[in-house]
Amino acid sequence: MAAKKKKMMKINSRKSAAKKKVSKKSKSKMKMSSKGKGKRASESSEEIISLILADHKPLKHLIKTMKSERAEDSEKIQAFKEFAKLLTVHAKAEEEALYTYMKKVKDLREHGFEGQVEHNLADQVVEEAKRATEKDLKLAQIKVLAELVEHHIEEEEEDMLPEFRKESILEDREDIGRHYLELKEKLEAEGSDDAPREKDIERNPHHHAERLKKCEINKGFLKPFFLFFF
Ligand SMILES: [Fe+2]
Ligand SMILES: [Fe+2]
Repeated sequence: MAAKKKKMMKINSRKSAAKKKVSKKSKSKMKMSSKGKGKRASESSEEIISLILADHKPLKHLIKTMKSERAEDSEKIQAFKEFAKLLTVHAKAEEEALYTYMKKVKDLREHGFEGQVEHNLADQVVEEAKRATEKDLKLAQIKVLAELVEHHIEEEEEDMLPEFRKESILEDREDIGRHYLELKEKLEAEGSDDAPREKDIERNPHHHAERLKKCEINKGFLKPFFLFFF
């Protein structure tokens, strides 16, 4: 009987040792997986693709209102005002941080330039819609802008970003992400002003040259009146 008890105790102690071993193993496995998750979370917080996708969300939401058949005109105009601010910051930071990188990589170069051209077009429509005084014209520009940027975002998310992911390493994507965040912060601090910045002029000389030309024409047109009155 005593021998049987001793044997039972031995089995139990072996079982509990095995149990301890398993729980230790599963704990270390959990630790590893939580470490992996943590690392992934910190990686994705600065990784450029995740940052861009997150910034597209509010833009897509505003696009819905801007092109909606049911929304009031005033709602569309209000959505456009918010949209213009967000788009300017996103687009400028995206160009400088991401497109600049893409233009240097052979297989991404075309995507980079294509994105840039579409940004320039959107920029022009934003400027024109801001200045439009006739309501129907302004609403037409807002609708065209919504469709243009909707198409652009679609292309970025379905073609450009997957291609960029294939052609880049995580370290670069994180570097670009950090640069993107810095630029965004700077642009947000500067606020949106209507005056063209030097970079805009460099980027879109034709548009700004046209605007300057119009100013010159107006000045020329007004000159005789000034001479007559003074
Ligand atoms: Fe873009
Ligand atoms: Fe974008």
